Amino acid sequence: MRTVPWLDILISLRKNRKDRVAFVAARADPAYYGALVQVLMLRLAFTSDLHFDTTGSLTTPEEIRRVAGEVAASHAAALIVAGDIGHPLHNFRHCLDALAGRAPHVGIVVGNHDVWHDEHRTSAQLWQTTLPAETRERGMYWLEQDPIVVDRVAIVGSMAWYDYSAAEPSIGRDQAYYAAIKPQVSNDAHWLDWEWSDVEISRKLREQLVALLERLEADRNVDRVVVATHVPVFEQQIRRDPTNLAWSIANAYFGNLTMGEAIARFPKVRAVVSGHLHMSIHAVVPRARMTDIQACVVGSDYGTPTWLLLDM
Ligand SMILES: [Fe+2]
Repeated sequence: MRTVPWLDILISLRKNRKDRVAFVAARADPAYYGALVQVLMLRLAFTSDLHFDTTGSLTTPEEIRRVAGEVAASHAAALIVAGDIGHPLHNFRHCLDALAGRAPHVGIVVGNHDVWHDEHRTSAQLWQTTLPAETRERGMYWLEQDPIVVDRVAIVGSMAWYDYSAAEPSIGRDQAYYAAIKPQVSNDAHWLDWEWSDVEISRKLREQLVALLERLEADRNVDRVVVATHVPVFEQQIRRDPTNLAWSIANAYFGNLTMGEAIARFPKVRAVVSGHLHMSIHAVVPRARMTDIQACVVGSDYGTPTWLLLDM
């Protein structure tokens, strides 16, 4: 009788992974275990809200280097950053340099803080030209336009922005209200100088991501899709507390459920990882006649960056 070599067993296990998608605790693995991980599954590392700051008043370079070192030791096939990397530009650049080479592929999504204008560049220039160029110069992927495809899994991203669709329903206010009070609630009102309203930039970003997802849905070389967004996009990623008025008003600037509805229509999407909230949330988004989406928010806060792993 022919015996099955151990490699055949591993390969058949790998083929049978199908829809297993699980967020697991961030960890570094010994080299021998890492080799096994790479044969058995696709491992992706995610971080967000790094707020790199050379002065140390937000997140210190040492803390970013700690995260980068831990990611490198996790044997992840890709590292994805879900926005709020560093402002002004020199902090963004230093942060990318700290992350470069820590995984075979590094994908970048920017957040609201990254597109705050400075004395040399407008918000629109940063988002459309400067930050994509800084990313690509380092061999990294600008995930709003350049998907990472590894092991038949595509990883794409979007800043997503907030369009007030996640506003606390019990407050009963409309878009015009949240646009009008924004200067009292969010520093974005003072540091963004682009011409678009929040609803308009959200629509632009949604149309861009939908076009990318349509392309991947038709791509025979892609079986599954992972989406990284800076702003959370599902109700399951939003924490609500209707008894807390300040928190409930802030909810309007914490999510983009319109974007989530658009993403959830694509059957290949299996996981969504977001940032922006500075709190850790793990959730499942059920879908009718389609595989559930595993969703989470990376729990980094100022001074205490964190990361997580997705095995699939
Ligand atoms: Fe943010």
